[in-house]
Amino acid sequence: WHTTWASTDGEQVYLRQDLGDPHEVVLVRPADLEAGSTVGVVPFRESERDDPERLVAAARRADAAAMLFRLRPEERVVPRPGHEGFNYGSFYAYSRICTHLGCPVSLFETRVSRLLCPCHQSQFDLNRGAVPIFGPAVRALPQLPITLAPDGFLVATGDFLRAGRSVVLGAGLMAGG
Ligand code: FES
Repeated sequence: WHTTWASTDGEQVYLRQDLGDPHEVVLVRPADLEAGSTVGVVPFRESERDDPERLVAAARRADAAAMLFRLRPEERVVPRPGHEGFNYGSFYAYSRICTHLGCPVSLFETRVSRLLCPCHQSQFDLNRGAVPIFGPAVRALPQLPITLAPDGFLVATGDFLRAGRSVVLGAGLMAGG
């Protein structure tokens, strides 16, 4: 699979917190999340940081919205085939666009590590790669491969995968490389 975010020119694709203000850039360090918690994130290219127009465009890439999770250390997570190594330790990132009809999945049930879509009540099991376990959704949430950059921030190393192949989420992502 090819990548659209992980650039060939070595440019980092950081995760920024999804704070509602497209101009406010807050990167994510592992210590920002407690075990069993989540934060909304949007991947963006390093070069977009100093370009307000591109920064706003990056924040508005609707399909780019993701959720970063820090699962509890005692949880046993079984990755989906082909998604091994997409996590950084107990950190996992998934698209927040429900695979049923595209509502934002937003309800994290920490105790059982499930993600719920409020529109038609689909549930996704984070211990098994966000596969659907209840409701009308039949496909798992696309997973974003992540790692830790040398500067201590979490970064994406590739695009979301869907059904084993890379998907292009927004033309803007391709523009940079
Ligand atoms: Fe999520 Fe229908 S859009 S369950």
